[in-house]
Amino acid sequence: MTSVDPEMKRYYAQRAPYYDAVYAKPERAADIAFLRAWIPAQFAGRRVLEVACGTGFWTQHLIPVAMAVTATDATEEPLGFARLRPGADKAAFALADAYALPESLGRFEGAFAGLWLSHVPRRRVPEFLASLHARLAPGAVVVMIDNNEVQLKELPIAETDAGGDTWQHRPLRDGSVHRVLKNFPSKAELEAMVANVAQACEYRALENFWAFRYRLP
Ligand SMILES: C[S@@+](CC[C@H](N)C(=O)[O-])C[C@H]1O[C@@H](n2cnc3c(N)ncnc32)[C@H](O)[C@@H]1O
Repeated sequence: MTSVDPEMKRYYAQRAPYYDAVYAKPERAADIAFLRAWIPAQFAGRRVLEVACGTGFWTQHLIPVAMAVTATDATEEPLGFARLRPGADKAAFALADAYALPESLGRFEGAFAGLWLSHVPRRRVPEFLASLHARLAPGAVVVMIDNNEVQLKELPIAETDAGGDTWQHRPLRDGSVHRVLKNFPSKAELEAMVANVAQACEYRALENFWAFRYRLP
């Protein structure tokens, strides 16, 4: 997995034991309640590939509705927590780089990526999408969700690099500080990103998150 940002891997490995605190913030409760119903509903009866599943918060909600779920992440530590989720025995888990999803994973009619696109450098978005779409069947549904700019109140942008990517300096509970790429694509940028490959784009602006859904032809 040479294409994985080692700093990001270290950050998510260290954070894995308490990562789920992001889903317990009271100001996010209404959004999470909506997404817990809306995301699985997009995948009823489909075989779903989840990219960058982390600790499997969304995986556990996909499992009861999807025909099958394969949940992947590039970091072993969060995957270890995902494997402990209720119903995890009905899913498959694999260590996989989102930029190089292997053919051995199979072919899927749905794909989900939660809080992942924001970590993809702008120049690598086409690479990620090519990797993802290569694993999908015609007519597959793709859903991505991510933080909107409300998150900047807690973690302001510390740097913008020459490629237009924005970076946060994120503290962890042990006092270490990590430089993490975090972009905030607009609705227009998301639509442009898939303009050549997608049909039926749908964008939803929530209080703390955006949700984006499209279908492959
Ligand atoms: C913000 S977390 C998202 C976790 C989960 N999807 C969620 O919504 O709660 C980002 C995840 O991306 C993973 N990651 C980092 N680089 C990756 C890569 N190149 N391919 C796949 N996953 C990667 C990290 O290990 C981490 O678990």
